[in-house]
Amino acid sequence: MGHCATVWDQKEATEIIKDWNGIDQVLLRNPHGASAKISLHGGQVISWRNELGEELLFTSNKAIFKPPKSMRGGIQICYPQFGDCGLLDQHGFARNKIWVIDENPPPLHSNESTVKSFVDLLLKPSEEDFKQWPHSFEFRLRVSLAVDGDLTLVSRIRNINGKPFSFSFAYHTYLSISDISEVRVEGLETLDYLDNLSKQELLTEQGDAITFESEMDRTYIRSPKVVAVLDHERKRTYVIGKEGLPDTIVWNPWEKKSKTMSDFGDDEYKSMLCVNAAAVERPITLKPGEEWTGRLILTAVKSSFCFDQLELQSKGF
Ligand code: BG6
Repeated sequence: MGHCATVWDQKEATEIIKDWNGIDQVLLRNPHGASAKISLHGGQVISWRNELGEELLFTSNKAIFKPPKSMRGGIQICYPQFGDCGLLDQHGFARNKIWVIDENPPPLHSNESTVKSFVDLLLKPSEEDFKQWPHSFEFRLRVSLAVDGDLTLVSRIRNINGKPFSFSFAYHTYLSISDISEVRVEGLETLDYLDNLSKQELLTEQGDAITFESEMDRTYIRSPKVVAVLDHERKRTYVIGKEGLPDTIVWNPWEKKSKTMSDFGDDEYKSMLCVNAAAVERPITLKPGEEWTGRLILTAVKSSFCFDQLELQSKGF
């Protein structure tokens, strides 16, 4: 396949399968047994497994796998709006649309090794999208699985219109965790955040790592390039790297809100945490012909990982 490249057997690295709605899903594999699955519905990563076959992303048991609504879990692409602050549906339309495989993407300038499997997807606005949001764009998404199991998503959005437009964006990332009471987030200490539970009030985080004992919905502004989610019980740490995305959203619906969501189990808030690399506080503006790039790099490491700069530097941060 022209859009996939690895140094090991290309045929083993990617496979296209159909889901029960007849929509294509792309399965990426690496030589050590790690895998990722991407649905063309929403360009959504719906599975990411390590080399032991353990699922690293949360999917609700009550998730609905039927367009147009996006499936509750995985990594949703929120564009051209994050939240429900505009004229569009909450989190924009990209997560609800059917994307296509981009057979001939323009080269991606990056320091990523070619030793990985990847797929390139493309979204262009339909007439219906254009009526709601009258801007012409091309959205290219590359999802890559590296030999070490890291998952990278690169979004490139180009303005092919005659006038500037602005958008907000998030990689809405549902991490699978052992128990919300066993988890802490490091890297957001002392930052300013907008509290989405109290009319976006601007508050400042205290000095400690974030732990969870009630509903949380916060947009940390100007957050660092790397944050970590430490799961003590499962002895796993997620390292969430980002580029081109100034903000980080942390969301857990907790008990009461969970009961209001029809595609989410009453107790499932215990086994998920959303940590979203995003550009929300200040929308991105693209002039005609301009392109924006936003990158998410997810790593899952075993045991009690502490912020080791050398390790992060070796990953290009
Ligand atoms: C989070 C937002 O990222 O997504 C929350 O911060 C929102 O405010 C949640 O409730 C879920 O949104 P949705 O549209 O997928 O139900």
